[in-house]
Amino acid sequence: MPKIVNSWNDFDPLKHAIVGRADFSMIPPEEPATSEKVPVDSEMRGMWGPRPTETVEKANEQLDNYVAVLEKHGVKVDRPTPLQWNQHIQTPDFRNDSMMTAMPPRDILLTIGNEIMASANSFRCRYFEYLAYWPLMNEYFENDPEFKWSQAPRPRLTDKSYKHNYYDEKISLEDRLIRTANKDFVTTEVEPMWDAADVMRVGKDLFIQHGLTTNRKAMEWFKRYYPDLRVHSVNFPGDPYPIHIDATFVPLRPGLIINNPHRPLPVEQRAIFEANDWQIVEAAKPAHDGPPPLCYSSVWLSMNCLVLDHKTVVVEESEVYQAEQMDKLGMNVIPVPFRDAYPFGGGLHCATADVYREGGMEDYFP
Ligand code: NVA
Repeated sequence: MPKIVNSWNDFDPLKHAIVGRADFSMIPPEEPATSEKVPVDSEMRGMWGPRPTETVEKANEQLDNYVAVLEKHGVKVDRPTPLQWNQHIQTPDFRNDSMMTAMPPRDILLTIGNEIMASANSFRCRYFEYLAYWPLMNEYFENDPEFKWSQAPRPRLTDKSYKHNYYDEKISLEDRLIRTANKDFVTTEVEPMWDAADVMRVGKDLFIQHGLTTNRKAMEWFKRYYPDLRVHSVNFPGDPYPIHIDATFVPLRPGLIINNPHRPLPVEQRAIFEANDWQIVEAAKPAHDGPPPLCYSSVWLSMNCLVLDHKTVVVEESEVYQAEQMDKLGMNVIPVPFRDAYPFGGGLHCATADVYREGGMEDYFP
């Protein structure tokens, strides 16, 4: 039987991926971890309910087009099975009035080698999101005898998992940055919590962002679960809303990373890259002044690109400065329109999860 699942990084030749779907997406009700993440001036603050139908349709159109482009470039694409996300959910520890969406898969699924693991997300509204991917996991399990189908320890997400009154509408941007610098985030350390999109995989090394969606205990959990890998906790003190590493620190090929200039990697954390002759280049500025309506993410989705191989990258069509920079860095750029999908949880990298990339577990930082 063929090997279906294998991926050790975000740059070796991509052959098989999952792309999310926007159907039935909700803006979830506020809860302890989400209120911190919605910017103070966002039109989404205080609102919740189904996302407007026309926005779902437009997002799905762009997602379908993205799938067609990937297939044209030789990538097999699978899609999740969305649930009716407007259902309320309950566990012995909490109740939430709705779920969210089957977007983006990058937050939920972490592929390391022949294993795909569902993450331990800190948002209650995302507690059952993994179910949208379970039909695919079962298919891989039935057809690839080496595939390891796994699930991180499920966090209980009781009130003890969050700092209450952490969020305060009056908090200034400067105060937020002080909190980030002090590594003072909304989650507590009672249990490991992490989003898969906080993990940057580079062969034997995992660089994991400690921020609003991934806590310190998760780093310790990763170290014990993957004793053969090296786990590095990274911080980006310039980011007032530190979640998900893929609009901040993005590898393009072995030896080259683009870094958000507003969120530079601190000097002491750059040492491992410099010692191994990796270049960290400032990413080009975004082409837009603001995100599209009803979007949680920042304008830096400009750098949230999908690398197809060491010379080919998919960039959002309107992000002309980022595309120009990629070109200068020696990459062939495939432009894809995607701004209508941004409100559903992110950009081109977010909207995918790796199933198969060529290559093995290289040691890039010996
Ligand atoms: N913190 C990120 C999320 C990107 C996927 C942002 O810049 O919005």
